[in-house]
Amino acid sequence: MFDHLLALYPPGSEERGLVGRIDGKRLPAHVAITMDGNGRWAKAKNLDRNAGHSAGAEAAREITEVSARLGIPYLTLFTFSSENWQRPPGEVQFLMDMLYENLLNRHSLLDDNDIRLKIIGDLAKLPGKLREKLLDSEERSREHKRMQVNLALNYGSRQEILHAVREIVSSKIAAKAIDERLFSGFLYTAGCPDPDLLIRTSGELRISNFLLYQIAYSELYFTPTLWPDFRARELFRAIIDYQGRERRFGSI
Ligand code: IPE
Ligand code: MG
Repeated sequence: MFDHLLALYPPGSEERGLVGRIDGKRLPAHVAITMDGNGRWAKAKNLDRNAGHSAGAEAAREITEVSARLGIPYLTLFTFSSENWQRPPGEVQFLMDMLYENLLNRHSLLDDNDIRLKIIGDLAKLPGKLREKLLDSEERSREHKRMQVNLALNYGSRQEILHAVREIVSSKIAAKAIDERLFSGFLYTAGCPDPDLLIRTSGELRISNFLLYQIAYSELYFTPTLWPDFRARELFRAIIDYQGRERRFGSI
């Protein structure tokens, strides 16, 4: 179990100790993460906010690779919300450029780890070049089987739900035929199981319009750790915590 993962860490390391406490048969099938705290991380180091975003991208790369090696089938990363456009234009531009660069230079992350990329959110508002690159990366990775990464971009959950309602209405589905299963199939996350575990970093205790329908029974994990510092060992701790919980889904 976990041979691919343990290969990353030397004997006696803290990571090995933590991985040893994870039950491979009870892994979450879907982990969703709100990656928050890049700006505060930078500020604490007297750097500009964009340096925090660069460090945050490194953390995202590490968490993606480690999740794949752990054997988590679905990972959803809240990358850019539909409200993030309100940030200063220079910061928005930096984030868009950084995404583009990562897609251009980091395809090996998807290839080497057999990861399928899926974008969730309203792509229409993204810069054209970035949109093309995103669609290209989705296409190039569509046969990858080990894990699916959903990148939430220009994503807002209420908007996602309204989008689903409009699609259902315009496909003239009978009211009687609309049940939870059918509705889930019209969300951007169609085909993914609901998240078992939702993580938010940086100490904020909010959902912030993320996966509102899908997290009905998710376990929530909040940590004060700022996103750029959320590395493999933090993910292992979150999973150990998750595995210690009793999930009853409304039963007793
Ligand atoms: C998360 O970090 C990154 C994005 C939302 C793009 P923030 O940029 O929100 O960092 P804080 O909350 O200002 O510390
Ligand atoms: Mg924030």
